[in-house]
Amino acid sequence: MAIGPLGRIIAQIIVPAIAIMAKTLPAAYAAALENARKSGTADAAGDAARRGASFLGKPRMSKDEAMMVLNLTEDEVTVEAVRRQYDRYFAANSVEKGGSFYLQSKVYRARELLDEYVKEKEKEERAGKVDEK
Ligand SMILES: *[C@@H]1O[C@H](CO)[C@@H](O)[C@H](O)[C@H]1NC(C)=O
Repeated sequence: MAIGPLGRIIAQIIVPAIAIMAKTLPAAYAAALENARKSGTADAAGDAARRGASFLGKPRMSKDEAMMVLNLTEDEVTVEAVRRQYDRYFAANSVEKGGSFYLQSKVYRARELLDEYVKEKEKEERAGKVDEK
C-alpha cells in the first residue's frame, strides 16, 4: 500500500492534532485514535493518512468505527438515534467550538454509513416478516 508523499504530509499534520481534537469525541473512539498516535509507527501514520483521506471519498469507514464515532452500540442504532447523535457531535466538533472539519467529516461519514446500515437492516427485517407468513 503506497500512500505517497502527500499521504505522509497529511499524516504528519493530522496525527499530532488528534490529541487536541479528541476531547470532543466519545472516549472509546478518542482512545483508539490516541493509541494509533502513540504507537508512532509507519503503519499508524499510514492509517491516519487513510483516515484523513476518507473524507476525500477514499476508503469507507467500517461500521464499528462509525458506531464509535457516534457513540452508539449495535442495539442503539436506529434512524432517530443516528440523527440525534449526528446533530450532537457535528455541532460539538464545529470549528468555533475547537473542533475541526476533519472530525466533522468523520461524524458525517459515520452517519452516512449507519443510515445505509439501518435501511439494510429494516429491509431484511421486513423480508423476514414476509417469509414467516
Ligand atoms: C456516550 O454515550 C454514553 C451512554 O449513552 C454516555 O454516558 C456518554 O456520556 C457518551 N459519551 C460522550 C463523549 O458523549
